[in-house]
Amino acid sequence: MRSILVTGGAGFIGSHTCLELLKNGYYLIVIDSYINSSPKIVQRLNSLFSGSRQSFKEQFKLIKGDIRDKILLESIFKDAINNKMPIEAVIHFAGLKSVEESVFNPSLYWEVNVGGSITLLRIMEQYNCRNIVFSSSATIYNCNCKSPLSEECEIKPINTYGQTKAAVENLLFSLYKNKRMDWRIINLRYFNPVGAHSSGMIGEDPRGEINNLFPYLNRVASGAIKELRIFGNNWPTLDGTGVRDYIHIMDLANAHYLALKYLLKKKNSGFLSLNIGTGKGTSVLELIKTYEEVNSCKIPFIFVDRRPGDVAISFAKNNLATSTLGWKPKRDLSDICRDGWKWEKLNPNGYT
Ligand SMILES: NC(=O)c1ccc[n+]([C@@H]2O[C@H](COP(=O)([O-])OP(=O)(O)OC[C@H]3O[C@@H](n4cnc5c(N)ncnc54)[C@H](O)[C@@H]3O)[C@@H](O)[C@H]2O)c1
Repeated sequence: MRSILVTGGAGFIGSHTCLELLKNGYYLIVIDSYINSSPKIVQRLNSLFSGSRQSFKEQFKLIKGDIRDKILLESIFKDAINNKMPIEAVIHFAGLKSVEESVFNPSLYWEVNVGGSITLLRIMEQYNCRNIVFSSSATIYNCNCKSPLSEECEIKPINTYGQTKAAVENLLFSLYKNKRMDWRIINLRYFNPVGAHSSGMIGEDPRGEINNLFPYLNRVASGAIKELRIFGNNWPTLDGTGVRDYIHIMDLANAHYLALKYLLKKKNSGFLSLNIGTGKGTSVLELIKTYEEVNSCKIPFIFVDRRPGDVAISFAKNNLATSTLGWKPKRDLSDICRDGWKWEKLNPNGYT
């Protein structure tokens, strides 16, 4: 069994990816501080995992801890070697992800997202583990670039969150350029991950203020929030609302599995950045309409001012990911709306 360290594996994207990797026979060591997640994810993953309880235990280990804790990271790598299961690769999700918060608290974002990554990468080097899949973001692209956005678009993030992602990509590139070190690196640049596992047992459970559209939509559908606020109705789009590339969380999880497989097969060092999106743009009003149709509900909404830093249209050119990884998004907007609402219905208070 191949041993993989998953940082931030209790979070939204991490937990769905863990399930995909467990099903494909990997041994997972997850480190998470639970700053934006819950240890209760373990029971959920255990019951979704088709194997026996014993094999789940043999395949999955969750450790509470911070990626900035050098001593803890060292002990994780050391223990894995002592157990004859050295960590072969890292999938690095751990980090803070609120654009708004990053603007108010930039030093925290640099410390966690960049400082934490530096600590992790140094320990990886120390233990000869040089395979990494990094969670990057489409927010790093110049917002004036025209969609579909290809990987060649200019990197010019306009907020602190995006700057920290671009900084880690830069650092990874420097490691790769040092050929003596033999790094294999994939940056997955996500567009808008949404929805939930079709069982409704795992999903997005943000702590504190909700910043993303989809969890907000779910709360309005459940009646917990009165109405959806749509930021701007005068964008240069078909219906005046912003257009984004919504990708089902399980398609994104599958992209991680394929990226990992690609890395572990690769003989030479490499550095690859791949857009992970569907290649299709959907406006906020289109998303609401599909959500209402699929779930037979009504979503009250109001229009409010545009947010600074938002763009009219953002969707991916995804050919590089599809051709390199043999990956293809299989789920559509209806699946996203159905699965996302199922998660909300079954877990109105998240994992608590
Ligand atoms: N969800 C999105 O829309 C999106 C888009 C692009 C990129 N990303 C990136 O993907 C990654 C995962 O995103 P997500 O949506 O699953 O977010 P999430 O907040 O659900 O998951 C991140 C996990 O990392 C953990 N964490 C945070 N700081 C940590 C630290 N210092 N040490 C250990 N654990 C820590 C959190 O507790 C959480 O479980 C993040 O790096 C995020 O920036 C997310």
